Amino acid sequence: MAKLTVSDLDLEGKKVLMRVDFNVPIKDGVIGNDNRIVAALPTIKYVIEHGGKAILLSHLGRIKKEEDKPALSMRPVAERLSNLLNKPVTFVPTTEGKQLEDAIDGLSNGDVLVMENTRYEDVKNGENVKRESGNDPELGKYWASLGDVFVNDAFGTAHRSHASNVGIASNMAQTAAGFLMEKEITFIGGAVDNPEHPFVAILGGAKVSDKIGVIDNLLAKADKILIGGGMTYTFYAAKGMKIGNSLVEKDKIDLAKEILDKAGDKLVLPSDSVVAEKFDNDAAHKTVDGDIPDGYMALDIGPKSVAEFEDVLKSAKTVVWNGPMGVFEMSNYAEGTLEIGKFLGTLTEAKTIVGGGDSTAAVQQLGVADKLSHISTGGGASLEYLEGKTLPGIAAISDK
Ligand code: 3PG
Repeated sequence: MAKLTVSDLDLEGKKVLMRVDFNVPIKDGVIGNDNRIVAALPTIKYVIEHGGKAILLSHLGRIKKEEDKPALSMRPVAERLSNLLNKPVTFVPTTEGKQLEDAIDGLSNGDVLVMENTRYEDVKNGENVKRESGNDPELGKYWASLGDVFVNDAFGTAHRSHASNVGIASNMAQTAAGFLMEKEITFIGGAVDNPEHPFVAILGGAKVSDKIGVIDNLLAKADKILIGGGMTYTFYAAKGMKIGNSLVEKDKIDLAKEILDKAGDKLVLPSDSVVAEKFDNDAAHKTVDGDIPDGYMALDIGPKSVAEFEDVLKSAKTVVWNGPMGVFEMSNYAEGTLEIGKFLGTLTEAKTIVGGGDSTAAVQQLGVADKLSHISTGGGASLEYLEGKTLPGIAAISDK
């Protein structure tokens, strides 16, 4: 059933609590990548343009002790948001109490307020009490009391059942999805539940164990699953092929065998690999077909595999990509990932959906991000969604 969205709400003069996922990479107060802030702008702008008072809540990093707090303050995030919106944003350096309540009371229609990191509530007086991440019922109730309506735009956090998403929702008459949340549900949820065929999934990354849930779920839905990245060689081992010094999860070889048996020709492994003598960008490297020779480790898919993958992809109507094809951080082993990203940018007839940090970084580096249908802001959330799991943050949004 379709979810209630922010455009269904009357926002004029309302205190609009908004859960956003501003969990951005930050070092020494400097934001490394503001994609998640940019992705929430349409909803924030909509709220303020419709006369709402936007009260933003987000977590940032993980807080286990008092000393973690200063480096994970939302202040730099509020400043970046202010720059992006080109208007003042009130930052309140606390998550509860009079200072926060007074600041909210002082808001005018169209104002924006960012409160301190919701996970500051996880540590109180030096104790790891996990009020936010343990979904303390009193905390969700308190935060809910600060607003008139609740909009959840934090897809990246949708796999968590925390006080600032599920807790607030359970204390509000209605919870609406923001536009980012709506887009993530439409694209990722749409691909999983009702894909247009042929549906091709490209799964990469180091470990079979990280992707097993996704492979299992998508085997039932996709027409082809193209495998790349380090996990390829656990599958090679399962087929009795030589893997040299390549990454392998020995305890997952039997599982890989089961998957191969179940998948038949649905699962496509790379037929060639770029192999190197060491895990080093400057190590001697070459391309080999099939077996990985002794003394070498496979670090990327080869050009033949890229061409074979492209051949499958060219007729696809839905494509989901999660995980790099090789050691993308090293230029000599980045080609497979970059070529696949570039090719996805040419598929104008298909819905192309990218999730996961490295594949997202690849399409951004290539400048093809705007040629794809959707780049997910979720890491763990998009993986769990692709696994077919119910995400508590989404389940807590009201139906239309
Ligand atoms: C993420 O970056 O995946 C989300 O913001 C969730 O963060 P968490 O894994 O610390 O809960």
